[in-house]
Amino acid sequence: LGVGTTDLDLAIVNGTVVTATDVVSCDLGIKDGRVALIGTGLGSSAANTIDATGKLLLPGGIDAHCHLDQESPSGLRHADDFYSGSRAAAGGGTTTIIPFANQKKHTPLRAIIHDYHERARGKAIIDYAFHLIISDPSEQSVGQELPALIREGYTSFKVFMTYDALRLTDGQILNLLAMARREGALVMVHAENHDCIVWLTEQLMAAGHTAPRYHTDAHSAVGEREATHRAIALAEIAAAPVLIVHVSAKEAMREIQYAQSRGLPVLAETCPQYLVLDSTQLDCAGFEGAKYICSPPPRDAADQEALWRGLASGVFQVFSSDHAPYRYADSGGKMKHGPNAPFSHIANGIPGLETRLPLLFSYGVRRGRIDINQFVAVTATNPAKIYGLYPQKGTLAIGSDADVAIWDPDKEVRITHSLLHDNMDYTPYEGTTVRGWPVMTISRGDVVCTDGEVVKAAGRGRFLPCKQPMVGTAGAIPGVRN
Ligand code: URP
Ligand code: ZN
Ligand code: ZN
Repeated sequence: LGVGTTDLDLAIVNGTVVTATDVVSCDLGIKDGRVALIGTGLGSSAANTIDATGKLLLPGGIDAHCHLDQESPSGLRHADDFYSGSRAAAGGGTTTIIPFANQKKHTPLRAIIHDYHERARGKAIIDYAFHLIISDPSEQSVGQELPALIREGYTSFKVFMTYDALRLTDGQILNLLAMARREGALVMVHAENHDCIVWLTEQLMAAGHTAPRYHTDAHSAVGEREATHRAIALAEIAAAPVLIVHVSAKEAMREIQYAQSRGLPVLAETCPQYLVLDSTQLDCAGFEGAKYICSPPPRDAADQEALWRGLASGVFQVFSSDHAPYRYADSGGKMKHGPNAPFSHIANGIPGLETRLPLLFSYGVRRGRIDINQFVAVTATNPAKIYGLYPQKGTLAIGSDADVAIWDPDKEVRITHSLLHDNMDYTPYEGTTVRGWPVMTISRGDVVCTDGEVVKAAGRGRFLPCKQPMVGTAGAIPGVRN
């Protein structure tokens, strides 16, 4: 960039810079919101200096799967909007979020995009892009609107194989996959077998099994495996890449592994709740289990172990929160149908934007399950590549946005909801002690959170148009071959 040390706006000195490939003790020099220099001795004449002795300088996290200010299939609205959600993200070391713009049936996609831009405007404090959710794949949506929107920076979209209001037929998914392949976009799939969920729910209800814990039985691992297999088969037939989101079951992971071993461009995401929580949490006293209801549900120790191995070996490229916040003691949240509602009437989704990185660092890096480069890869670099934001986001390289999480690898924190910045009334990780926490979050050179205090006002976040996803490119994403 032709910058000398005297021109720097900010130097972060004496830290350890970590990328998806390297760990280097050096300084970061920032100018006009971007990384301008990486070297030593940068502090001497920068306008401002931050001493990061003993800290890691990580690329700010990218949370590529979160739901903000979105209506649920049953008409509830999420507890977090773009302000509280982005505040929570920043509190947890995340500097880019990719929430969903959810298509209502019979609504043109352009109107949806406009609507979600309005929801974010003046609110987000960090940068954001959008995935679309396609619930009405009409000729107009798929044939005309989507190809144009893809060229304008909306290059990924999610489809559902379950939920009455959202699910698509196999034929509709095939059409979308074929279009995505033609236009250079990526289809993300929520893979659960709808009819299995409906049938199992009916059986459970008829037997009087209505408590939250039966949600796990209704959303069976076999149903997740079958739908994952089918989604991959559809992508194979359409010769398109596909990304399976929020994988919870070892059986589903094996389908993904098998596809990858055959060289198919099949990508996958998992989330903290599937590595750290398990099905016993849904079985706590009274209605408390509702706090852990999400789909697919957390499963068992054997699933957790398999998923950890999958994360370490590259089966999963992306680690996201799937933050889907519904307050617990709230008639607009988990208790919409009262404190004794059957599991089938409890909103699906749990919060996790702020705890995503600390949980993975503590349970993954500190326990030796993944190394720090893999941590950066799955939380920042891979999502940036896959969703077309690299190298502006997802790494610390000359010219990249100066999005940095200054990370104290030794800081011990007992997670409790009052520490967090979301608009929820609980965290599923209440009482969990983690070691490793972000002490400062910097977005485009601006300190947005320091020592747990969010210091920037709503509205500074910018919309990020996404480029074509980097999938199936040799070497782009570990675990995926051409
Ligand atoms: O239960 C969940 N995961 N809710 C959020 C919506 C989704 O399916 O990702
Ligand atoms: Zn989903
Ligand atoms: Zn989700």
